[in-house]
Amino acid sequence: MQTHIFDVIVVGAGGAGLMAALYASKTASTAVISKLYPTRSHTGAAQGGVGAALGNLEEDYPEWHTFDTVKGSDYLGDQDAIEFMCQEAVDAVYELEHYGLPFSRTPEGKIDQRPFGGHTNNVTGKPVRRACFAADRTGHMILQTLYQQCIKNHVNFYDEFQVIDLLIVNGAAAGVVALELSTSELHVFHAKSVVFATGGHGRIWEVTSNAYAYSGDGASVALRRGLPLEDMEFFQFHPTGIYKLGILITEGVRGEGGILFNDKGERFMEKYAPKVKDLASRDVVSRAMYTEMREGRGIGGKNFFYLDVRPEVVNRYAALDGRKRPDGSPYIVTADEIISKLPDIADFCRVYLGVDPVTQPMPVQPTAHYTMGGIPTNKYGEVVIDDQNTVLPGFYAAGEVACVSVHGANRLGTNSLLDLITFGKHAGLRAAEFSRGATLQPLPKDAADFALAQLNQLKNSAGSERVADISREMKSVMFDHVGIFRTADGMKTALEKVRELRQRHQHIKITDQGKVFNTDLINAWELGNLLQLAELITVCAINRTESRGAHARDDYPKRDDANWMKHTLAWEKDGNIRLGYKPVAITKYQPKERVY
Ligand code: FUM
Repeated sequence: MQTHIFDVIVVGAGGAGLMAALYASKTASTAVISKLYPTRSHTGAAQGGVGAALGNLEEDYPEWHTFDTVKGSDYLGDQDAIEFMCQEAVDAVYELEHYGLPFSRTPEGKIDQRPFGGHTNNVTGKPVRRACFAADRTGHMILQTLYQQCIKNHVNFYDEFQVIDLLIVNGAAAGVVALELSTSELHVFHAKSVVFATGGHGRIWEVTSNAYAYSGDGASVALRRGLPLEDMEFFQFHPTGIYKLGILITEGVRGEGGILFNDKGERFMEKYAPKVKDLASRDVVSRAMYTEMREGRGIGGKNFFYLDVRPEVVNRYAALDGRKRPDGSPYIVTADEIISKLPDIADFCRVYLGVDPVTQPMPVQPTAHYTMGGIPTNKYGEVVIDDQNTVLPGFYAAGEVACVSVHGANRLGTNSLLDLITFGKHAGLRAAEFSRGATLQPLPKDAADFALAQLNQLKNSAGSERVADISREMKSVMFDHVGIFRTADGMKTALEKVRELRQRHQHIKITDQGKVFNTDLINAWELGNLLQLAELITVCAINRTESRGAHARDDYPKRDDANWMKHTLAWEKDGNIRLGYKPVAITKYQPKERVY
C-alpha cells in the first residue's frame, strides 16, 4: 500500500476544494484528492451567478446582502458568519476577476450583475442586481479559473481517487484512506490537516439537479467516524428544473425577466409574493408551485409549469412591473440578448426538450438542489463537534458538505458560489496555519483496515440485491415524503422504507470483481452513504415539529421560534441516531415574519 505525506490534504476539487488548495499551497505542501477530474466537479453546474454587493448597476451594500441572507435563511443562519461572508464577497469577486475569470460585462466594462431570488433593495423591497455572472456558466468558469491557479501554484492532484475513510489519531485529523479508481489500490494520505470539500447529497431524491457524484461521501465518512452533522432536515428544492429530468434551469432566467405561468396562464407568483413575484426565495417559489399543482393548476393537470423567457413576454411583464434599465430607459430585451446571457440554458432546452426558449416556454418543476446542512464548522472552516463549538484539531470543511451555518433553513441563489470561495479560502488558510505548528500524528498499522472492511463487505456479500433497485426505491420514497411538503405520517413511511433498504444494502450483489474502474463496487459504496444520510435527514425532519425555510410541514405549518430557533446536531453510532441542539448566533436581526 502506498503512503503519501503532505502538510494539507484537500478532499474534493470543486470550487471550495480548489480555493482551499490554492490558499493552503501558498505556505504548505498540499494535495487535492478527487473522485473526478477537477473540472468535472459539480461546481460546474452552478449557472446564474455569485452574489456580491458590488453596486455596479444600482445602489447596493454588503449590509443589505447580509440582511437578505438572514431573512432568506428564515432566521436560522448564524448572523456572525453571514455578515463575514457578505462583507468578504466584494473582494472575493474582484479576486476571481484578477485571476482571469471571464465575467460578463456592462457596456462600460464593469462586472455585469443581474437580479436573483430574495436579493433586494432593503429600502424599496424590490429586486436588486447583485449576482455577478459569466453568462450562465459562472460555476464552470470558477472551476476553470481556480484549477489553472492551482496548477500554477504546484498543487498536487490525485484525480479519480475515492476517499473512503478519515483518519483521526489522538483526537486530531491525521489523513485519509482512498481507493485509486483505475487500479483498486488503497492509498494512505498522511497529513497534518485535512479539508473536506466533497459537496452535497442531492442524489437521494428522484428529480434532482445534482451530478451522479453527489452521493454525500464526505458527510457520511465523517458520520461513520463519530462526528455530528448539523441541520440535515433542511434541503433545498430549486423551482426550475427541466420537467422530469431535473436539470437546472438557472434562476438567472427569471433574473433576466422570465415569468412562471400555470395552466390558466396566470402569473401565479403575484399571489404568493406580491412584491418580488417570480424572484421570491426558492423555498417560497417551490412551495407555491406545489400548492398550484395540488389545486390542479399544473400545466394540463400535470406536475409542471411554464417558465417563459420569450422576449415579447419578458417585455410585456417588465412594462407592467415598471422595470427599467440602469440608465432609466424601459427594460426591453431582444432574442439575441437572451441567448447571449443564457446560452447554456438555450442549448439544454433545445437538446433535452426540443424547445427553443426564445420562441417557446420551458416546462419546469422543482428539483432537489442544495444541502443546507452538513459537517458543522465555524466561519474559519474549522470543524466543530458539539454544542460548545469545540474544534476538532486539524479537520476543516468547506462548501456544500459543510454547515457554517450561513444558509440556515434556506439558501439564497448565488450564495453557494460565494460560500465556497469565502469558506474554501479560510479553510485553506487555517489548515496551512495549523500544519505549521503541528507534527504528524503517528498512524497505526491498521490505518486502512476500516476502509478495506467497508469495501470487502460489499464485494463479498452473497446477496442478490441490485444497486439500481435500492437506489430507485430510496429516491422515490424520499421525493414523495421528505420533499417540499412533509407530514409525520409520510416521513414515517419513508423512514421505514429507508431502514428496510439499508438492510437490503447489506446483501447487495457486486457482479464486477475486476480492479479497473470498478464502478459497480463504488456505486454500491456511494449508495450506502446516500441511504445513511436519507435515514438521518428523515429522523431530523420528523423531529423538527415546525415549518421553517425549506422544511415545510403540513401538520406544523407555522414557524415556532419559541421552541425551534436552534440548530439540530445528529450523530449515528451502531445504527442508532442521537440528536442534540445548539443555539443560533443572532447579532443584529431579531427574527421576524418573512414577507416577500
Ligand atoms: O439558479 C441558479 O443559477 C443556481 C444558482 C445557485 O444555486 O446558487
